Amino acid sequence: MKIAIINGPSLNLLGKRETDIYGNKPFEDYLNELISKFPDVEFTYFQSNIEGELVDELQRVGFEFDGIVLNPAAYTHTSVAIGDAIAAIKTPVKEVHISNVHAREDFRKLSHVSGKSAGSIFGLGLKGYELAIRFFIEK
Ligand code: DQA
Repeated sequence: MKIAIINGPSLNLLGKRETDIYGNKPFEDYLNELISKFPDVEFTYFQSNIEGELVDELQRVGFEFDGIVLNPAAYTHTSVAIGDAIAAIKTPVKEVHISNVHAREDFRKLSHVSGKSAGSIFGLGLKGYELAIRFFIEK
């Protein structure tokens, strides 16, 4: 099974960035945990701070992979282009947010991604990525 994990802007700073909200762990450390937890899954990981690069990656993996776990970060709330890319591809996307976006500022309550995704997880910390992966595997 091939699963792509795609992270949007500033998620490269996990472990350093607003640690009270996002925790102390760099994503690369968490990714290594996922790789050992799911030895039968072939993972690719992509992070970008650039909207078009996220669209390119969705299109690249979106006809070939079994699942995509996507945290578009701030682009969730602004990017029609990422929403359209999810609608355009064949691979199902699970939207993940580390924080509870509904318990924060109002602008975070709008998602251009949720309506196009095969489910959304928010507010469960990094564990949300693992749960999304399990959902793909157990389905
Ligand atoms: C986030 C929530 C977004 O609102 C924010 O812009 C992020 C991270 C999350 O994982 O909680 O950068 O997607």
